[in-house]
Amino acid sequence: MLSKKLEAALNDQITKEFFSEYLYLSMASYCDSIDLGGFANWFISQAEEEHQHAMKLFKYVQDREGRVALGAMEKPQHEFKDVMHLFEQVLEHEQFITQSINKIYELAVNEKDYPTQVELEWFIKEQVEEEKQVSDIIKQLKWIKDNPTMLYMLDQQLGQRVPTSLPAEEQK
Ligand SMILES: [Fe+2]
Ligand SMILES: [Fe+2]
Repeated sequence: MLSKKLEAALNDQITKEFFSEYLYLSMASYCDSIDLGGFANWFISQAEEEHQHAMKLFKYVQDREGRVALGAMEKPQHEFKDVMHLFEQVLEHEQFITQSINKIYELAVNEKDYPTQVELEWFIKEQVEEEKQVSDIIKQLKWIKDNPTMLYMLDQQLGQRVPTSLPAEEQK
């Protein structure tokens, strides 16, 4: 069984993952409003991934005989200066999520809760991927600056993204 402290920390993380979904949907709507349909598609796929993250932890808390308690969510940011500003916000948010997961991992280590450590290892690896993909887009945006043709090409590229669902065994 989970300790009350770990249960509370995991519940807080579930709310954060649902908030990530909410934030990325808000960002998708911004991209759509400035006619970047490919970017909007990328954010919708990202939002779906965040939903899966939340549900993976949701199921884990239940499997450990904990009780899921969803928290309140803030209103997500709605307006952005431009796409560069948008992706800088994404990177900042993902760094915040990484720190949050690392703190729960530390707690699980201190409590010698091995199953939670194993569960969180998946998330720690995922955060490396999350931060890298956003940093890569920021690097591309630096090259693009105000070049509309290059921005169009990146929009086409991001429009190709299809939501990646977790492998079946990781959804359990
Ligand atoms: Fe996530
Ligand atoms: Fe991911």
